[in-house]
Amino acid sequence: MIKNDLFLRALKGETVERPPVWMMRQAGRYLPEFMEIKAKYDFFTRCQTPELASEITVQPIRRYGMDAAILFSDILVIPQAMNIEVQMKPNFGPYLPNPIRSQKDVDNVVVPDVTVELDYVYQAIKATKEKLNDEIPLIGFAGSPWTILCYCVQGQGSKNFDKAKKFCFTNPVAAHGLLQKITDTTISYLRQKVKAGVNAVQVFDSWGGMLSPIDYQEFSWQYIQQIIDALKDETHVIAFGKGCWFALGEMAKSGASALGVDWTCSARNARYLTGGNITLQGNFDPTRLYSPPAEIKKMVTKMINDFGKDKYIVNLGHGILPDIPLDNAKAFIDAVKEYKSPD
Ligand code: CP3
Repeated sequence: MIKNDLFLRALKGETVERPPVWMMRQAGRYLPEFMEIKAKYDFFTRCQTPELASEITVQPIRRYGMDAAILFSDILVIPQAMNIEVQMKPNFGPYLPNPIRSQKDVDNVVVPDVTVELDYVYQAIKATKEKLNDEIPLIGFAGSPWTILCYCVQGQGSKNFDKAKKFCFTNPVAAHGLLQKITDTTISYLRQKVKAGVNAVQVFDSWGGMLSPIDYQEFSWQYIQQIIDALKDETHVIAFGKGCWFALGEMAKSGASALGVDWTCSARNARYLTGGNITLQGNFDPTRLYSPPAEIKKMVTKMINDFGKDKYIVNLGHGILPDIPLDNAKAFIDAVKEYKSPD
C-alpha cells in the first residue's frame, strides 16, 4: 500500500482533500543537486545506471515533497533500443546522426526484445521503488509514436519538425510502418515498466500540436489509442498532448485515466471539451514560474478553483524550465499542499 495515494485516487476520480501535485520534468535541470551529478556523468550513463537514475528521481521529492515521482530517463531510449543511434549533445539536445528518410531505413529499424535492451530501465524502477519506500507512487513514461518519429526523421529538435511532416505526407506508407514499429515497442516497454513497479504511465505527445486536427488523428492519436487499449487494464494511462486541445473530446473517450492539458486551453474549456467526467492534469504556464512566489501561489489557488479540486492533478502545462528559481518551484508545490476548498 502506498501511504500518500492522492495521485492514484485522483486518477480513479475519487474525492480528495486536495488535488495531488507533481511537475513535468521535475527530475533534473533546475536542481543544483542534479547539476552535481550531471557534471560527473554523461546523459545516457545517468539513464543507464540504476543507482544514478533512482537518485535523480528522488531528488525533487526530498526537496519539495511532490505527491508522485517520475522516473529519470528519456523518451529517446526507445529509438536507441530500436537500433537508431541517438546522441545527447551538451547545449544542443538530442542528435540522431542517421535519420530515417526512406522505406529502406524503416525496414532496418528493429522491434527489439525490450526485456533485454531496456533492462536498465526496469532496474532503475526497482531501485527507485526501494528509495521511495511506498511513500508516493512512481510514474513511468514514453513518448508518443508521433513524437518519437519527429526525432527519428528530423534527426534533432526543431521549431516545426518540417522534415518529419514532409516524410509523413510524401511517404505515408513508410511513415505508418515506422509509427507501428514504435507503437509495438512502446507497448511492450510500458508493460515491462508496470511489471517492474511503476504505478501509472504517461504518454508524452510533446509535438502533437504540430499536426492539424485531421493529421493528428492519422499520424498520432490512433497510435496513442493502441497504447491505451493495450495498457488500460494493467495500469493508469495519462495522455498528454501539447497543443492538442482540439483532440480532447476524442481523448476523453479513449480509456485513459487522465488527460494532460497545456496552458493555451482554459480549465473551463478543457472540462467542456472532455464532458466533465475525466481527470485532467495541468496546466500552469511553465514561464509563469518566473513570477514572484506570492503571485505564483495566488495563481495556483485560482487554477485549482477553476478546474475543481476533484478529478484534477496539479501540474505545469509542459516541462519546468532550467532557470526557474528554487523558491518559485517550492511556491508552486506549497500552494497546492496549503489549498483549502472554498466550499
Ligand atoms: O522529470 C524528468 O525530468 C524525468 C526525466 C525526463 C527527461 N526527459 C530527462 C532529460 C523526461 C520525462 C523526459 C521526457 C522528454 N525527453 C520529452 C517529453 C517531455 C517534453 O519535455 O516535451 C522530450 C521531447 C524529450 C527529448 C529530449 N531529451 C530533449 C528535447 C532534450 C534536450 C533538452 C532538454 O533539456 O529538455 C533531452 C535531454 C534531457 N532529458 C535532459 C533531461 C534531464 C537534459 C540533458 C542532460 O541532462 O544532459
